[in-house]
Amino acid sequence: MAANPEILDQIANAPDLGEVEALRVRLLGKSGEITTQLKSLGGMDAETRAAEAPKVHALREAVTSALSERKSALEVAELDRRLATETIDLSLPAPESVGGTVHPVSQVMDELAEIFADLGFAVAEGPEIETQWYNFSALNMPENHPARAMQDTFYLEPRESETEARVLRTHTSPVQIRMMESSGAPVRVIAPGRVYRSDSDATHTPMFHQVEGLVIDRAITMGHLKWTLETFLKAFFERDDIVLRMRPSYFPFTEPSAEVDVGWSMEKGRRVVGGQEGWMEVLGSGMVHPNVIRNCGLDPDEWQGFAFGCGIDRLAMLKYGMNDLRAFFDGDIRWLKHYGFRALDVPTLSGGVGA
Ligand code: PHE
Repeated sequence: MAANPEILDQIANAPDLGEVEALRVRLLGKSGEITTQLKSLGGMDAETRAAEAPKVHALREAVTSALSERKSALEVAELDRRLATETIDLSLPAPESVGGTVHPVSQVMDELAEIFADLGFAVAEGPEIETQWYNFSALNMPENHPARAMQDTFYLEPRESETEARVLRTHTSPVQIRMMESSGAPVRVIAPGRVYRSDSDATHTPMFHQVEGLVIDRAITMGHLKWTLETFLKAFFERDDIVLRMRPSYFPFTEPSAEVDVGWSMEKGRRVVGGQEGWMEVLGSGMVHPNVIRNCGLDPDEWQGFAFGCGIDRLAMLKYGMNDLRAFFDGDIRWLKHYGFRALDVPTLSGGVGA
């Protein structure tokens, strides 16, 4: 049979997986060259066997590892090739015939961006895996603060290098901290995105969407907050008869805090936003707590602001009339066809954001 280095070279240069397999069969298969040599050891006298056996075993080991090395190198190369050639343009609108639609959550996020852009807000983003500092501590919820238990948190297994477990963010409020840290003041942003809580029933899913709003400037008051929310909700629901009610509430990161209810009324047997027959809660808000401003390196005597957080899925349900939140994430093509939006229905203020 071929000399050691030669056969190893041949394996290392095998052009494809088929060739690697052919070499394996030729050398290590049932009647392969090395297998035959191994079998022949039995027929040798003790002295010859003692001399030959280590050589054959060493050869088998070298060949086995060369084969598996070449195999995985070829597999990696094959994967790279596929990754490079098989690209899917996810931004390409699906043609009507394929039936692709824009999910109501994406649609509402686009509507929010459009409405708030008109008020001078930029769109910010933050990571969904957060440190406890950003998700809790910087937001004035120190360790052992009871409010940490208010939100049923998913904790990640800590990495070896970590002293503290990271969490799936329970709200979009950590983006407040990231924004103030990265761009200082003034700030005017909304931050839409996914959030996670260990909770599941008809009105709660373990993953849902929120939009955070943050304004930091000089001499900001609750009046600015109320006007902004009113303007936003009127544009979003495309009605002028939107009435807000602010109820005193508590969030560790705002002081004072207010929960905001919006008036509803019955129209054709359906409960719709607008009017004043009853109230439903739509968001949490307040004036950013001085400790939070301080935690971001800003002077709370100079800078004040307001923040609010609002469930996007709920906004979509109220505007477009779905009643089971879980269906949002089932991926049922019939639901998506019914509630989805055509890819070219880009929301604009002039066309009505729900166009
Ligand atoms: N983060 C809060 C929540 O998830 C909402 C909120 C945001 C309240 C900003 C006040 C200010 O419940």
